[in-house]
Amino acid sequence: MKKYIDKNWQNEMKLRLDYNNMLSNYVGGGQGLTEEELEANVKIAEEAFKSFEDIRGSGMTDWVNLPYNQSQIIEDIEKTASEIRQNYEYFVVLGIGGSALGPIAVFNALCHLHHNDLPKEKRNAPKFYVEDNVDPERMVALLDVIEPDKTMFNVVTKSGATSETMAQYLIIVDILKNIYKKDISKHVIATTSASKGNLIKIAKQENLKTFYIPDGVGGRFSELCPVGLLPASVLGIDIGEFLKGAEYMDKLCSTSNFNNNPALASAYLSYLTIKQGKNISVMMPYTDSLKYIADWYCQLWAESLGKEVDKNGNYAYVGQTPVKSLGVTDQHSQVQLYTEGPFDKVVTFIAVDNYRKTVNIPNGCEDIQDVNFLCGHTLNELIQAERVATEYALTKKNRINKTIYLPVVNAFTLGELLFFFELETAYAGEMFNIDTYNQPGVEGGKNATYALLGRKGYEEKAKELKNAPKKSLKYII
Ligand code: PA5
Repeated sequence: MKKYIDKNWQNEMKLRLDYNNMLSNYVGGGQGLTEEELEANVKIAEEAFKSFEDIRGSGMTDWVNLPYNQSQIIEDIEKTASEIRQNYEYFVVLGIGGSALGPIAVFNALCHLHHNDLPKEKRNAPKFYVEDNVDPERMVALLDVIEPDKTMFNVVTKSGATSETMAQYLIIVDILKNIYKKDISKHVIATTSASKGNLIKIAKQENLKTFYIPDGVGGRFSELCPVGLLPASVLGIDIGEFLKGAEYMDKLCSTSNFNNNPALASAYLSYLTIKQGKNISVMMPYTDSLKYIADWYCQLWAESLGKEVDKNGNYAYVGQTPVKSLGVTDQHSQVQLYTEGPFDKVVTFIAVDNYRKTVNIPNGCEDIQDVNFLCGHTLNELIQAERVATEYALTKKNRINKTIYLPVVNAFTLGELLFFFELETAYAGEMFNIDTYNQPGVEGGKNATYALLGRKGYEEKAKELKNAPKKSLKYII
């Protein structure tokens, strides 16, 4: 039996949310929330839970179904992934935003931190790259380190229209066809919408293996569908365990009582503290393996909640600026600001109870006590002590903070964590009464790019850009 089916094991893997330091009697200095405030506003949490339940699983919230409805897809993904592991040296994801940040985060969390540098026999999977930019230098750099004829490219775009991804696709296909004379169907897999966009048309023309992104799953909520599952499976990650973790979190969050629903509690605390002017959310994992989870979270929180209007069309200018940070690294760069700067932040630590490795700090420097005190400890003790100390120092300076604990980083707890953040975001969106799933603010820049590059249908936009006020040389110094 797979261990993650076992209920006792699942309970041992439970994520915990500690929000003591969001409360004013812990944090002091007039900061934080009182028990009375939490009680007085409890309807906000209950109503958000209810309004999310009302839309749950429909429209753009189909992502809640992903832990439950993919058994056939998983079979296909695992079969395809196993073929890729056997036959290809490199696996390259071409995608951006929600089509890239999840695969990067999961790769970093669950694979060796220097995966690509390991010898092949220790890797058990192809070298892995996610190309989420159109920087020409980066594209050339990629081509310097991969062999395209030994590479499987996974082009991922839900809309099938994203310029960055399609530009990369054109470059890769040109190289495969014209330099390597390859049948691209052996080197490109498409992950896209079944019904909309250009990539599905191209995939059919070129006979590409295709995985589908469900219509009701937006980019930033897509890590648990083939967008994330195929790369994860290629890397040898147990995607059944990953989805089971998400399901476990879903079950943990099935009540409108925020005391028993960690994602609802976290959303509620965010909502109330944003109302108190905490405009910045710092996400600070204390492990390198979760560094890119902070990146993924930043997109989810920013793009989902940063909205000009509410659901009724009234100006709302909602949102909270997410900032990624890494413990302990950023203790030596950002923590000064968090401890003494403006009272405009909430810091969320992500702690792990057990690191997957232990490193002893050996004896040495016997006559220098300021160094020698470290000897006999482990790096594990050091990083935990630094996290506890930073939490303490922030709290002592009346800075609100909370901690998410993972028992260990594995596919199950990662599934829990991602689903926790997705639910938290969904609840927060309901509290602010905004559309969590659109991104109209991204369209402005996209349309201007089309106009600048002469795309048909964007002539008016091109005119508008041409007539925009000219920059004055006076202010370019
Ligand atoms: O969350 C989102 O919807 C966006 O970040 C998209 O993922 C991003 O713009 C890429 O879109 P697409 O998958 O259509 O290429």
